[in-house]
Amino acid sequence: MHEACGDGRRLSIGLAVSPTWLRGDAWRAEDSRVEELFDLAPFADLAAAAEAAALDFLFAPDSGFLEPATLDRAPGFSTHDSHTLVTALAARTSRIGVVPTVQTLIDSPYAAARRLMSLHRLSDGRAGWNAVTALGGAENHGIEAPTGEERYSRARAFVDAVRELWGSYPADALILDRAAGRFADRGRVRRVNRDDGRYRIAGPLTVAAHPSGEPPLFQAGASPQGVALAGACADAVFAVTGSIDDAASQRAALRDAAARAGRAADAVRFLPGLVVTLADTRAEARRIAGAQRTGTGPGHWSVTGTPEDAVEEIAMWARASAIDGFIALAGGSWRSIELFLGRVVPALVERGLFRRGYEGRTLREHLGLRWPSDG
Ligand SMILES: Cc1cc2nc3c(=O)[nH]c(=O)nc-3n(C[C@H](O)[C@H](O)[C@H](O)COP(=O)(O)O)c2cc1C
Repeated sequence: MHEACGDGRRLSIGLAVSPTWLRGDAWRAEDSRVEELFDLAPFADLAAAAEAAALDFLFAPDSGFLEPATLDRAPGFSTHDSHTLVTALAARTSRIGVVPTVQTLIDSPYAAARRLMSLHRLSDGRAGWNAVTALGGAENHGIEAPTGEERYSRARAFVDAVRELWGSYPADALILDRAAGRFADRGRVRRVNRDDGRYRIAGPLTVAAHPSGEPPLFQAGASPQGVALAGACADAVFAVTGSIDDAASQRAALRDAAARAGRAADAVRFLPGLVVTLADTRAEARRIAGAQRTGTGPGHWSVTGTPEDAVEEIAMWARASAIDGFIALAGGSWRSIELFLGRVVPALVERGLFRRGYEGRTLREHLGLRWPSDG
């Protein structure tokens, strides 16, 4: 059976590499691999399995702070630095995209632009970035995080500065003419001399841009200001939604925001988180989900059941044009992840909802984005 999404496009599908499968009491399960929480191995296994299923990208949320009181009974925000993690994963993979998180209120645009372009070059065009304001962590940098409107004004200035820096050392500035002894066209490498009242940056960047275009921008932040930022400059949004109606209205608001910013309505993909807690029987899936429930966190869209249940649910949301794809948050167990990648994704391919294998080389191509983008 073939059924396209509402608008005929294929779904974009990513997998979160944050250990959400350890939430609540789930880390206590026999096969949780919690001892490896800070090792590369479980993440490398996830990345290999996601690439074998030809997913578009690995998505790494991040936290810039840890509250000791939350560690008594669960891992809380224990987490790797997302850039370092996905750089290691990019070296272990060759096709799948890698998307670390940048906290715009506490990071430096120059440092972030440089890290991201290094990742983009080292992965040969597979980097994206998830720009969030920040859940917290300003205290770890000796700064006061701004509040109110200033949060997103600052975020917008951050994104603009990063993009300007990426343009400061364009790929085609490199001449590399050995015979003539010409390395680069210095007229094409420029200082940015930015002073927008928030950031003072001289530039240029030390890393030449990747010829395939800049890393696609993901945004996560649900306030009207967050949606406006996404409409103006994001390629995809990671969102929290608990119902198909809410998803459809968030997606519509996002499309409106893009149109208001003078872009095509479908320039930004709406990709909610989807907690997949799967097992061979519904009863077993419910048992696993029960163990997880003591964990707090946003109320993401979730499917608890068999792989067939997940396929039906995703197909229904796609048919209703409530989503452009989703970011799978593995729940419960390694078996659940195996079932998602090994059974759900292939079934979505059979239904024409996801592409069969990789068609391109870069994350931009996986997501079907043009370059230069229409933003
Ligand atoms: C779906 C989603 C994912 C988020 N992921 C992160 C994250 O990985 N790291 C982080 O510091 N903040 C994250 N945030 C929080 C945002 O940085 C921000 O603090 C919060 O969403 C408040 O902004 P808002 O009012 O625009 O939603 C996330 C928010 C949402 C909605």
